[in-house]
Amino acid sequence: MRTRYLIGNWKTNKNLKDAVSFVEQFQQNKLNYNAKIGIAPVYVHLTEIKKIISDSLLLFAQDANFIESGSYTGTVSFTQLQDIGVNNSIIGHSERRKYYNETSAVINQKLFACLKASMQVVLCIGEALGQEISFLKTDLTNCLNTIDKSLIKNLVIAYEPLWAIGTGKTATPEVANQTIKTIREYINDLYDENVANNISILYGGSVDHNNIQKLAIMEQIDGFLVGKASLEIKNFLEMARVYA
Ligand code: PGA
Repeated sequence: MRTRYLIGNWKTNKNLKDAVSFVEQFQQNKLNYNAKIGIAPVYVHLTEIKKIISDSLLLFAQDANFIESGSYTGTVSFTQLQDIGVNNSIIGHSERRKYYNETSAVINQKLFACLKASMQVVLCIGEALGQEISFLKTDLTNCLNTIDKSLIKNLVIAYEPLWAIGTGKTATPEVANQTIKTIREYINDLYDENVANNISILYGGSVDHNNIQKLAIMEQIDGFLVGKASLEIKNFLEMARVYA
């Protein structure tokens, strides 16, 4: 059985008070979920949230530099995240690629550093409008270049078509399911059937409490990376109730 996830990517949203309050409210409901539930706040909130977060929530960074320390103004290294007890990170989100020119070569270095340090990583991939799905194979091949099979156990993939992120246009359950199946085939080509069958592949892009159920029933979809709809505790709890 593949692990299922519901992860809120808060991007550059929330002040500290709201972020802490969200976590407190989430933890007040003592439900047992069948999926792993996580949040990815901004860096500067991680330490405070780490103090109050319980085992019921995974804490993710939104990015991690692959260089342990040095002169890289404005970045946070994977070792600094681990130092404050944050062992999960999103890597290669399309907004990092788009606004900060992050290439698959850089993503590859980040993945390697984090996975080697036993961090759990959510690698985001997705095609632009009109781009062939086969682009995902090229991107995966570059992002995972020389990353050994033994490191893949801590890797989760999030399939997020660029045209669906923040647009309100979700991929249909059938399309999301079919594309994730294809991604699994690419992973099979890069590694083997065992890796392909066991890796969790999430869908992301305008998921909310109204559409999550229809997507969730698709057999290839192992969970969700949710942006906008994860910001309100009420919506997040509803998604957790419906899905997790
Ligand atoms: P969205 O963002 O849910 O707001 O579309 C998803 C993401 O960027 O991870």
